[in-house]
Amino acid sequence: MKFVGKAKLLKKQIINEENFRFVIKRSDEMGCVYPGQFFNVSASKVGYPMLKRPISVSDVGEDTIEFTIKIIGEGTRAMLDYNEGEAVELMGPLGNGFEYGGYRKILVIGGGIGIAPLKGLINSLKKTEVEIHSVLGYRDAPYLYEDFAANSAICEIVSENDEQYNRGYVTDPVKKMLESEVYDMIYVCGPYPMLKNLTDLFNSKGFRAQLLMEEKMACGIGACLVCTCKTKNGDFGFKHSRMCKDGPMFYSDEVIFDE
Ligand SMILES: Cc1cc2nc3c(=O)[nH]c(=O)nc-3n(C[C@H](O)[C@H](O)[C@H](O)COP(=O)(O)OP(=O)(O)OC[C@H]3O[C@@H](n4cnc5c(N)ncnc54)[C@H](O)[C@@H]3O)c2cc1C
Ligand code: FES
Repeated sequence: MKFVGKAKLLKKQIINEENFRFVIKRSDEMGCVYPGQFFNVSASKVGYPMLKRPISVSDVGEDTIEFTIKIIGEGTRAMLDYNEGEAVELMGPLGNGFEYGGYRKILVIGGGIGIAPLKGLINSLKKTEVEIHSVLGYRDAPYLYEDFAANSAICEIVSENDEQYNRGYVTDPVKKMLESEVYDMIYVCGPYPMLKNLTDLFNSKGFRAQLLMEEKMACGIGACLVCTCKTKNGDFGFKHSRMCKDGPMFYSDEVIFDE
């Protein structure tokens, strides 16, 4: 079921100078909303910029949906003009989302704003028996890590610039963890180079991961073909998959990364 319409903005919260949070009223017409899915959210209450922006669900409550948004350009900046109590136009839930049933031990790896959709995943799993290990990477000061710290048996935080934390990239702790741990599934969301480097690492160690991919989007429903990426199989040894409809979750052994 795809909801197309308006939902009330219950809460707008500034997280730091780059990121903010929207809590939207969830309606029955939206149906089930799963971690890893996204909504196309209207960038502005005045109708410009016109194109809706894809934003992942960063948490789902009984009658709420949370989005965590990084200010990138015109559209995400215009979203800040919405006031609490106003209606936000959106369409969703869209995309396939994560597969997460039946695993006993998982590793969750997030980089920057890519941590947002993983928050919804670990909150869906926190009341289950699954053992969660998390690695979160930031450029500067960490944010959005509290739920990971509270619900993970191991939570490693790295930052490129914040000296209070281990310096470096997520690949450093992940390499060590893959030497000593066995995971039933690994979940990753973050910038393209991070996904590519980690996938090379998983392939060399025999691990399989679910990657939440990102690409520029327009329609969000598989019609315009703006958002394709190369995946394995197909008539020529590869095919073009639509991130919005066939993804945004792809398995690490499906995706063909650009060199
Ligand atoms: C499936 C999916 C889930 C996402 N989830 C989140 C999230 O939870 N939080 C978050 O902060 N961001 C998320 N993004 C990225 C977010 O959609 C872009 O940062 C946003 O569209 C940028 O719009 P802008 O107008 O601010 O920037 P501009 O650069 O001015 O955008 C110009 C145009 O490019 C498109 N565009 C630019 N960058 C991207 C991008 N990286 N991905 C898709 N379209 C882009 C915009 O839709 C717009 O049409 C997600 C992207 C995808 C594809
Ligand atoms: S955004 Fe139109 S096909 Fe994916």
